[in-house]
Amino acid sequence: MTIRLPGLIDPHVHVREPGQTHKEDWDTATQAALAGGVTTILAMPNTKPPIFDAATLELALGAAKAKARCDYAQYLGAGPINAAEAARLAPRAAGLKMYLDSTFGELRLDDMTFWMQHFQAWPRNLPIVAHSESRSMAAIILMAALYDRPVHIAHVSLREEILLIKAAKERGLPVTCEVTPHHLFLTKEDIPHISQGHPGRGEVRPRLASKADVDALWQNLDVIDCFATDHAPHTLAEKDGENPPPGFPGLETMLSLLLTAVNDGRLTLDEIIQKCVLNPRRIFCLPEQPETWVEVDENARWEIRAADLRSRCGWTPFEGWRVRGRVTRVVLRGREAFKDGEILAEPGYGRNLRE
Ligand code: DOR
Ligand code: ZN
Repeated sequence: MTIRLPGLIDPHVHVREPGQTHKEDWDTATQAALAGGVTTILAMPNTKPPIFDAATLELALGAAKAKARCDYAQYLGAGPINAAEAARLAPRAAGLKMYLDSTFGELRLDDMTFWMQHFQAWPRNLPIVAHSESRSMAAIILMAALYDRPVHIAHVSLREEILLIKAAKERGLPVTCEVTPHHLFLTKEDIPHISQGHPGRGEVRPRLASKADVDALWQNLDVIDCFATDHAPHTLAEKDGENPPPGFPGLETMLSLLLTAVNDGRLTLDEIIQKCVLNPRRIFCLPEQPETWVEVDENARWEIRAADLRSRCGWTPFEGWRVRGRVTRVVLRGREAFKDGEILAEPGYGRNLRE
């Protein structure tokens, strides 16, 4: 049977343009999005150069305007000296991204006085997203309490983290969070299978966790506000080379993995709509997309194969997985954008939702 869902919002995508278009660009990232039923992406700022001022924001938005096939907004990155300028540019950005732990790129902010400057300057009605694992997560939740403004925690992966967020929410603190498909469907026991002898393929931040951690995420689904891919494409040559960069692609596989969980009775369609549309729309202050929907053949079974995907990275940690539920058609703002495996929206059709 064909079911209709609203277009999904993915608040966590690494588009890689400017600077690393051999991994992905605004064209291929938004093709992957549409094929996965995602009609809005929020693009992370750890590009080359990173997006942290007016000139670099222009660079990203110029490429997006020319090439994006679905709707989008671009994050600014929090750096040591840009609190005032970032705040001035805030209305044009998806939100402010703060990197508090080590990962791919150069945006890590160690000194907590820098966090404080950003919390003081950034408009309280616009989103702040934190890459903050374990104890830095506790610290950033304290910051949200001190400055009495919301913070959204990216890619929660551990039992201790989801329980911390649950406790913070019970206390009424303004915190929301997201979980990625790879932290819901994979554990560290899957790394040998993902790696196929190339350990770099299993690298991702936060790392894949234990079965107990994954179980705690499923047991606390009501604490999870959003599902977000953290689509982080790196080529196979890079993943298999020296110094493999961390990151998994995810745009084209998230919805089918979630629908498979619905089929298995672990999730409901309503939860998908809450966590992939309604909550992200509210948390990230996004407009409704008129005449926009995704058609899904809920019984279709297919096998995930990198060779069939559109991301430029050329691999997936879910290679060979048999999933149920497939996107057959996407209508974006009244126009057919994807149908039966073909991308129909042209480059430049995507709109900047912060314009
Ligand atoms: O695994 C990751 N890759 N985690 C991040 O936080 C960044 C991302 C990337 O940009 O490759
Ligand atoms: Zn990320």
